[in-house]
Amino acid sequence: MKQKIYIFDTTLRDGEQTPGAKLNTAQKVILAKQLEKLGVDIIEAGFPISSPGDFQSVVEIGKAVKDVVVCGLTRAIKGDIDRAAEALKYCKHPRIHTGIGASDVHIEFKFKSTREKILEQGIEAVKYAKKCVDDVEFYAEDAGRADNGFLAKMVYEVIKAGATVVNIPDTTGYCFPEEFGEKIKYLFNHVENIDKAIISVHCHNDLGMATANTLSGVANGARQVEVTINGIGERAGNTSLEEVVMALYTRKDKTDYFTDIKTAEISPASKMVSSIMGIPIQPNKAIVGANAFAHSSGIHQDGVLKRRENYEIIDPKTVGLDASQIILTARSGRAALRHKLGELGIELNQDELNGLYEDFLNLADRKKEIYDEDLRMLVGEKQEGKPQKIKLDLIHAISGNQNLPTASVKLTILDKEYESAATGDGGIDAAFKAIDHCVKKKYKLTEFMITAVSVGTDAQARVNVAIEYNKELFWGVGIDTDTVVAAAKSYIDAINKFI
Ligand code: KIV
Ligand code: ZN
Repeated sequence: MKQKIYIFDTTLRDGEQTPGAKLNTAQKVILAKQLEKLGVDIIEAGFPISSPGDFQSVVEIGKAVKDVVVCGLTRAIKGDIDRAAEALKYCKHPRIHTGIGASDVHIEFKFKSTREKILEQGIEAVKYAKKCVDDVEFYAEDAGRADNGFLAKMVYEVIKAGATVVNIPDTTGYCFPEEFGEKIKYLFNHVENIDKAIISVHCHNDLGMATANTLSGVANGARQVEVTINGIGERAGNTSLEEVVMALYTRKDKTDYFTDIKTAEISPASKMVSSIMGIPIQPNKAIVGANAFAHSSGIHQDGVLKRRENYEIIDPKTVGLDASQIILTARSGRAALRHKLGELGIELNQDELNGLYEDFLNLADRKKEIYDEDLRMLVGEKQEGKPQKIKLDLIHAISGNQNLPTASVKLTILDKEYESAATGDGGIDAAFKAIDHCVKKKYKLTEFMITAVSVGTDAQARVNVAIEYNKELFWGVGIDTDTVVAAAKSYIDAINKFI
């Protein structure tokens, strides 16, 4: 029979310990509601004794959510537990998460105590918390580096004292997956009353193994996983919710577990956490990174277009994304170009496609990525196609704050070559003057507008100009990754309209 894995989300507590991620109560409530929508089982809402803000957040989250357990963190100290109990009193399903260090490093250097005294303090904390709420989770901090024999004794005693859940954290992200799994197995083999509580795992990502360690914990008996959205958290972060959930979901063939997570809410939750906390998601982040479903090489694009499964193990719709993305770059082939054009409603025959592909490659060599707007522009330029009387062959411009802006141009006007150079207020002004010299006329510029065609510093610039000639306005447009070149093209385009 399939077994449920409880999802304990600590984005709002451990996740908020990410440097610079401080949230106010209103922001935390918004995120808590999204976590409830996502289907997490437990929300760790904060550490009530740590600040009035954290206290208030636990109160408000407790009032705002209904179908989920709300948990407050404490140390194994009565004052902490009282404060957590007070913060949790409005909530339907309260849990106190109390605990103390289990490793000798922590016992000796953090608490300057002994194993016996620490054990006693842990037991007392559970008994005290149990008077406030039924649901008490105990954490054995730094269990990853703790002696297994002592850890087993601690787990036994806190369960006897009333803990409903026992959390085995790899606080410093120290363990290897096999080693962490062995630790959980050891507890199942040596703690007599272990079936009276749920064993939870809480892994940190210092060696990049948080997800692997968490799954190894599950494979050895843990039934609750402590995770954060986007893997945010103290130092290198916590286990990421989306990785564990999607690993269990995707490899159903390997595992016998399920979660109640509504996977289609993963991407909205990830984006919400990133934007509210102001922490960008690394592009190659599994499941939620911008590139997680993007295909950029020609071979991969062709493969995905033939059948998505060729290069994707998850349908992006499962995690709430629209579709796989075909990213057009200099490595893309004609199949990807045709596909993208199709999405934009542009149908080309093979000859037209071949012609456009050349221009596409030229542009892609200058730009990292070709966006929809770039494509529309390329197609537009190609369709205009009628011969121009004035052609820009070369332009060279120098500008800066320490020299006189200068531009030199070479034009072909009705099959004859002209060259000129000029100085101006800036590179564009100098270029327009040099063009004026070549055409032997000075035109009145009445409109000048620059916009970025797409995004990024390598985006193409679109320059629109209007020139007055014989009391009439003539518009011109020029597009290029270089703004001065785009401006010169637009100026010449406008002149071509009436010359
Ligand atoms: O990493 C850790 O050990 C913790 C505990 C407070 C649960 O965050
Ligand atoms: Zn932690």
